Amino acid sequence: MTRRTVRIAMNGVTGRMGYRQHLVRSILAIREQGGLALGGGEVLWPEPVLVGRREHALREIAERHGLTEVATDLDAVLADDSIDIYFDAQVTSAREEALKKAVAAGKHIYTEKPTATDLAGALDLARLATSAGIKHGVVQDKLFLPGLLKLKRLIDGGFFGEILSVRGEFGYWVFEGDWQEAQRPSWNYRSEDGGGIVVDMFPHWEYVLHELFGRVTTVSAHVSTHVPRRWDEQGKPYDATADDSAYGIFQLDGGAVAQINSSWSVRVNRDELVEFQVDGTHGSAVAGLRNCRVQHRSATPKPVWNPDLPVTESFRDQWQQVPDNAEFDNGFKAQWELFLRHIALDEPYHWDLLAGARGVQLAELGLRSHAEGRRLDVPELSL
Ligand SMILES: NC(=O)c1ccc[n+]([C@@H]2O[C@H](COP(=O)([O-])OP(=O)(O)OC[C@H]3O[C@@H](n4cnc5c(N)ncnc54)[C@H](O)[C@@H]3O)[C@@H](O)[C@H]2O)c1
Repeated sequence: MTRRTVRIAMNGVTGRMGYRQHLVRSILAIREQGGLALGGGEVLWPEPVLVGRREHALREIAERHGLTEVATDLDAVLADDSIDIYFDAQVTSAREEALKKAVAAGKHIYTEKPTATDLAGALDLARLATSAGIKHGVVQDKLFLPGLLKLKRLIDGGFFGEILSVRGEFGYWVFEGDWQEAQRPSWNYRSEDGGGIVVDMFPHWEYVLHELFGRVTTVSAHVSTHVPRRWDEQGKPYDATADDSAYGIFQLDGGAVAQINSSWSVRVNRDELVEFQVDGTHGSAVAGLRNCRVQHRSATPKPVWNPDLPVTESFRDQWQQVPDNAEFDNGFKAQWELFLRHIALDEPYHWDLLAGARGVQLAELGLRSHAEGRRLDVPELSL
């Protein structure tokens, strides 16, 4: 067995996503399984260098996990020839500048979404990275959720017939921060800091819709800040300048329509924090993070609208669970592994900075649709 090391500068690992999903559940999990098997007796061994602004916080994480390398000077890290990949899970507003520096330094790039705060910046990044000849990837974790993998299996197996519509419901109540601590960082609620649910979630909806059902061709969105005053990490009140709820309608290539509600000001009355109902001529499905249930046309009840009578049947109980039929790994880890194989073996990988730019484009057009009060076309992007 030969071991090939890949050195990854991981920026933003003190944050929620950077620490839990990317460092612990992905990179450290790959190390715990003995590295990434590349075939032919070779194993790829990811070696993280923890990058950030606060050395003591980085050291504390490193010690907790038996790591040794931390750095607070990004420029010096990028000047280090032994670093292969730059990874970014910083706050959104800090991302574009750091990614540009990493591209200029010739590093491969793997990054959280959104890749930039506007389309011009996101496209610029995609172009710079492509002309620099580096490899680049953008997190599209929802594609690797067990529920959506089952949904994809149903689509590929022809279960739906013609797909007519997709209804997505995402969200949960994020506490204001006064009498109960907020469970999301306060920058999410300040647009000047890159916050807002459209910027956060429309990039996800773009790739989910695109990869499963068809490219988004038009967007029409209504956006709100339902909770205008919140309390930050220090307990200080602030004005929420960013949207906390978005009600979007997306027309898709191929004719289906998707309607997705995204909200941090909604209480959950669903089985999972996100659910997509897909209705087709031959059957319907409801997919969440982990589960997916279906109703075939042959098992579809024939309800009759009569408000004078109590409901006579339990509609939810008439659906059937789709079995796992596979072992599902953490979605972030699964995508990291594909990216690392792309780096090590040159395997194809299409979730790149251009794909990331499509997400930023949909967010930008969603906000513009709301501001202008009209439906907007979503032009196809190219480099
Ligand atoms: N893929 C997903 O499902 C998903 C989910 C949530 C967030 N995200 C994305 O991940 C990124 C990080 O989100 P998070 O929720 O982990 O945020 P967070 O606030 O928990 O973490 C932010 C990280 O950025 C660092 N940072 C760098 N410059 C900063 C600055 N000027 N101000 C504050 N922090 C700064 C922080 O130290 C921290 O390590 C965002 O871009 C967000 O859009 C992705």
